[in-house]
Amino acid sequence: MYDKLLLPHYFGGVEDVDLVSSWLNENYGAPTSALDVAEFGCGTGRMTEALAPFARNLVLADNSEVMVSAVARKFPDAQTFCGDTSDVTTSLLAAGRAQSFDLVTAFWSLTYPIGEFFEELTAAGVRSHPDQASARGRAHEFVSGLTRLVAPGGHLLAMLFDAESPEQQLVTRAWEKVAPFPDGDRSYTRDIVIHALRVAESQGAGRLTHTRRGGVAWAPSGHAAREWFFGVHFKHHPQLLADADLAATVAGFIERHTMPNGGVALPSGVHVIDFCVGAHPETSLPDGVLA
Ligand SMILES: C[S@@+](CC[C@H](N)C(=O)[O-])C[C@H]1O[C@@H](n2cnc3c(N)ncnc32)[C@H](O)[C@@H]1O
Repeated sequence: MYDKLLLPHYFGGVEDVDLVSSWLNENYGAPTSALDVAEFGCGTGRMTEALAPFARNLVLADNSEVMVSAVARKFPDAQTFCGDTSDVTTSLLAAGRAQSFDLVTAFWSLTYPIGEFFEELTAAGVRSHPDQASARGRAHEFVSGLTRLVAPGGHLLAMLFDAESPEQQLVTRAWEKVAPFPDGDRSYTRDIVIHALRVAESQGAGRLTHTRRGGVAWAPSGHAAREWFFGVHFKHHPQLLADADLAATVAGFIERHTMPNGGVALPSGVHVIDFCVGAHPETSLPDGVLA
């Protein structure tokens, strides 16, 4: 169902999975099956397809049993974990896996474990944790735990959605009808990742490279675009499904972005976050400068 509903995302004509392949080629050259790789929130293994040719060992984790069983079928040699990214990170660190991965990745999936420090979904609805300051501290600690999994010279690579894009602003305004977001915006999870990695960089633990790319989610029809909003973004939430104003807003948004061939180009964006672990600033100098 995920693979069926997911719209392809293009950034400058390049699909997100091809951005990952290019990044891998730039950093490691041709695939060599030499890296120890972890992927959190791996879903059905869409991005794993790009990572696998570079991997000697693959650790794949997701908190959905359905996703984990799908990915285990596709990558039978991988070590799989079903659990929250933060819990699996803690378990791997406790199992002596600190500094043991050349590459730790999370594509379109870090927002969820970070959000769970701040709020939880209960039978009664979304409930904010009473101590938001401690939630922030634990979220920061979680991001630094991810970096501790990475071996010197290795990378933490993440893609996060752009909460400020018009599409995501519409989604944010819809979910705010169900529950407010910490700091009033869904960009707070990205801010936490960036802040934690900047602190790590300022402590000499590595080097942060952060880029934002504008792009589109491409729906082949208006129907597919509506399914994208109500199925994927709104998760068929009864309150949102019954909201006539929201239905009209989504219909207007889709109409404005419908192309002459009937497809819908939804403006979107991705933040690509690469933290290269190693003594900064020394390892950021070109070879020979310190000779
Ligand atoms: C948008 S999908 C991205 C999947 C995949 N990375 C891709 O790019 O196709 C988000 C994934 O994160 C998983 N997920 C959601 N919350 C999670 C959590 N707290 N811990 C681990 N995985 C989580 C979902 O089950 C889903 O597979």
